[in-house]
Amino acid sequence: MDTITILTTRRLRLRTWRESDSAAYHEHCNTPEVMKYLGGKMPLRHVRREVRWYMHDHDKHGHTFWALERKRDKALLGFCGIIRVPELDSPMLGLLEIGWRVRRDMWRRGYAHEAASAVINWAEWELPAETLYARIHQDNVASQALARKLAMRRARVMEAKQARLDAELWIFRRSL
Ligand SMILES: CC(C)(COP(=O)(O)OP(=O)(O)OC[C@H]1O[C@@H](n2cnc3c(N)ncnc32)[C@H](O)[C@@H]1OP(=O)(O)O)[C@@H](O)C(=O)NCCC(=O)NCCS
Repeated sequence: MDTITILTTRRLRLRTWRESDSAAYHEHCNTPEVMKYLGGKMPLRHVRREVRWYMHDHDKHGHTFWALERKRDKALLGFCGIIRVPELDSPMLGLLEIGWRVRRDMWRRGYAHEAASAVINWAEWELPAETLYARIHQDNVASQALARKLAMRRARVMEAKQARLDAELWIFRRSL
């Protein structure tokens, strides 16, 4: 299935997903280190379901957590993008959430920042005047530092324990 390129940066491409991404996504991104603050490693069938959900979510909203690919070799690095919070029992239902995930062997090369900066620029044009949120595990200092570098500020709101995480989620926000 053909994918659609949504954004490109100097080194990266953000594109829609295809079902065949599941294998690489499972191998590189569904690892204990990457999933440490995200509820742990998932079974492959959950990864497949997640990829299908991103495909459906993009079709529905015109945005999602897009596949993050390196231009040079088309390696799947992870994802970055924006969803509308889908959990019916969340007080944030329907709000815009930015998300990022990068495979462990590609950390600290500036990829997440490069991708997220482009996503925020895109959202400033496509989803203007909304507020962008990030939900980040209280101990996930890397993600928190990235949010701050993107001019997101910790909001007062903190989401209570969620089903799969025995921890507080800190809510970061910025206006678009
Ligand atoms: C968070 C994550 C996406 C960062 O990806 P990355 O590509 O390594 O990030 P970058 O190289 O673009 O770094 C951008 C900024 O993030 C912060 N950062 C990244 N890794 C960090 C670390 N280990 N410790 C502290 N700050 C860190 C820094 O502010 C950094 O800017 P700097 O290089 O000028 O110091 C990556 O660690 C990851 O995928 N983690 C697992 C999945 C996850 O937890 N996702 C977030 C869920 S809320």
